[in-house]
Amino acid sequence: MAIQYVVKTLFGLEGLLAHEVQALGGKQVKVENRAVSCQGDLALGYRLNLETRTALSVLRPIKSGHAPTESKLYDLVRSVYWDRIFTLDKTFLIDMVCYSDRFRNTHFLALKSKDAIVDQFRDRYGKRPSISKDPDIKINIFIRDDWCTISLDTSGATLFKRGYRYKRGTAPINEVLAAGLLKLSGWKKGVPLVDPMCGSGTFLMEAAMMASKKAAQSFRSDFSFMKLTDYDEQMWRVVKEAARAKECSVETAMLGIDKDQRVLDAAQTNAMRAGYDSIKWRRGDFFKWKPTGPPGMIIFNPPYDERIGLDDAILFYKQIGDHLKQHCNGWKAWIISSHLKAIKQLGLRPIRRIPVFNGPLDCRFVGFDLY
Ligand SMILES: C[S@@+](CC[C@H](N)C(=O)[O-])C[C@H]1O[C@@H](n2cnc3c(N)ncnc32)[C@H](O)[C@@H]1O
Repeated sequence: MAIQYVVKTLFGLEGLLAHEVQALGGKQVKVENRAVSCQGDLALGYRLNLETRTALSVLRPIKSGHAPTESKLYDLVRSVYWDRIFTLDKTFLIDMVCYSDRFRNTHFLALKSKDAIVDQFRDRYGKRPSISKDPDIKINIFIRDDWCTISLDTSGATLFKRGYRYKRGTAPINEVLAAGLLKLSGWKKGVPLVDPMCGSGTFLMEAAMMASKKAAQSFRSDFSFMKLTDYDEQMWRVVKEAARAKECSVETAMLGIDKDQRVLDAAQTNAMRAGYDSIKWRRGDFFKWKPTGPPGMIIFNPPYDERIGLDDAILFYKQIGDHLKQHCNGWKAWIISSHLKAIKQLGLRPIRRIPVFNGPLDCRFVGFDLY
């Protein structure tokens, strides 16, 4: 029987994710709000977790129904045969999302749902599974008006936690967002890539993984689907081996520049431990850097005057624009920022302006042809 999946992503990346899901063999792929739904077999769920670069989590809806009151929600949750899904020795957590005027207290809904699961186990076995903040099994319950969908979060920890970040900078960009922006920019393997304010180097790490066709979660070994009773270890091994067989070398010039030696050390450590020793890292000031070699793409998130403050954001962005204009002839440049007023001061005509969110910050991802 086909399994239904709902793969969650960030606003603006749904189309990219739909392509990824299709390429991995998803059937009946449909773009939803910050998500993509599809159908497939158990192995598809493993591939989605391992290989999609723009997914935040892979949900498996298991039951839907009306839940107009708290007691109806309890009944609905209790109607699932939980002991067929996970065993008593596993810990679990409810991730409750509610968009409904009927309910005031989301926390209470989560408690009711937890009780429904615990009571069912206790009635059958005289014992109950424990709750944990770092659970084996993550259960996602989504309520809109009086309609409730119960899903298994097969990923567990969010998929932007790739497992390659041993050290971090002050304001690292989310890995899923970085991968999505690289795809939106149109960057391809072979095109020289520079991040001139690279911080801990997320753009370059994601680009190196794309160029070498390394699965997004190659460095991660823990997923929630491994704790479900239908986990097929042999199938997971086959999926991993198939992904590994696609790997190749990076073969692309990549350079990260930052004025802060501490974050640059973090970037270099992460890259070396991941096996990407061909990425070059240089301590320096963007305003003194002049590109050499064949033109390629510049991509960066400069300080927004949010987590990293600026004395004069308007002047800083104007100087970025001036420097790109004067020294980067023939290159393409892409910048993401939440400082919408300052972006206008770049003084360059954008080829595209894409609305995205970096966490809660409403941002624009803006591309330029420099000539
Ligand atoms: C928002 S952070 C970039 C985060 C990065 N994308 C990551 O994932 O970690 C901005 C970075 O710009 C660097 N920076 C600011 N002004 C700079 C300049 N003039 N030259 C080089 N780097 C600069 C800061 O040190 C900081 O690491």
